[in-house]
Amino acid sequence: MKLILLGPPGAGKGTQAQRLQDEFGYRQLSTGDMLRAAVASGSELGKQARAIMERGELVPDALMIGLIDGRIGEPDCAAGFILDGFPRTVAQAEALDRMLAQRRTALDHVIEMEVDEAALVARIVGRFTCAKCGTGYHDTFKRPTKEGVCDVCGATEFTRRKDDNEETVRTRMAAYRSQTAPLLPYYAGRKLLRKVDGMAGMDEVYRQLKAVLGRA
Ligand code: AP5
Repeated sequence: MKLILLGPPGAGKGTQAQRLQDEFGYRQLSTGDMLRAAVASGSELGKQARAIMERGELVPDALMIGLIDGRIGEPDCAAGFILDGFPRTVAQAEALDRMLAQRRTALDHVIEMEVDEAALVARIVGRFTCAKCGTGYHDTFKRPTKEGVCDVCGATEFTRRKDDNEETVRTRMAAYRSQTAPLLPYYAGRKLLRKVDGMAGMDEVYRQLKAVLGRA
């Protein structure tokens, strides 16, 4: 299964990709997570990406394409992969088409998570993550069962993303509208685009996704 989840910041791409990975073993490939790891490690890529991400703008296509091209052929992607955050421009989508054609394979689905932008700022500024295992939580929509303790690994440290503030979120949304939304007609024209209601509760969104994938 080769899948793209498309949607603006806070649409729930990471939340749902994690669930699909856990249940079916399709590898979640989050370019945002890869970039944050590069920033944390102080690598050359991280140094180039850091300030751009903090402003909420897009990292140059050439860097992103190189990152994904090296990744989709690795053994842990053999059962399939879920692209979360890539492609984000038409140039990235065209490069992905070339990468897949070279490997004699193709996308199965591109799924748009349809959301009401007005609700997204609250989703994003309330987000936090377990510092040890990366499980995602939210101040209102998904609190740990035991306050201050990760449900998955029991850790007690949590982190918040530096770009999860209201001003940067507005820039990220503008980048989505101008640079990423043109991918919707791009994939609709290839008859690959499907939609789920990203405003529904997390379990209902997951149910709709599995129905699209024929795994309900
Ligand atoms: P990235 O990390 O990809 O961020 P993003 O696209 O802005 O997406 P988010 O991670 O904010 O949202 P999400 O849709 O995954 O939502 P989530 O599931 O966490 O990119 C960060 C930066 O990296 C970019 O700005 C750019 O600079 C750079 N970058 C990355 N890829 C790039 C590329 N290809 N090209 C160029 N630059 C690139 O959910 C959000 C919150 O809502 C969570 O707390 C969750 O618990 C909650 N929630 C989720 N679903 C629901 C629901 N149904 N109901 C209620 N709450 C919900």
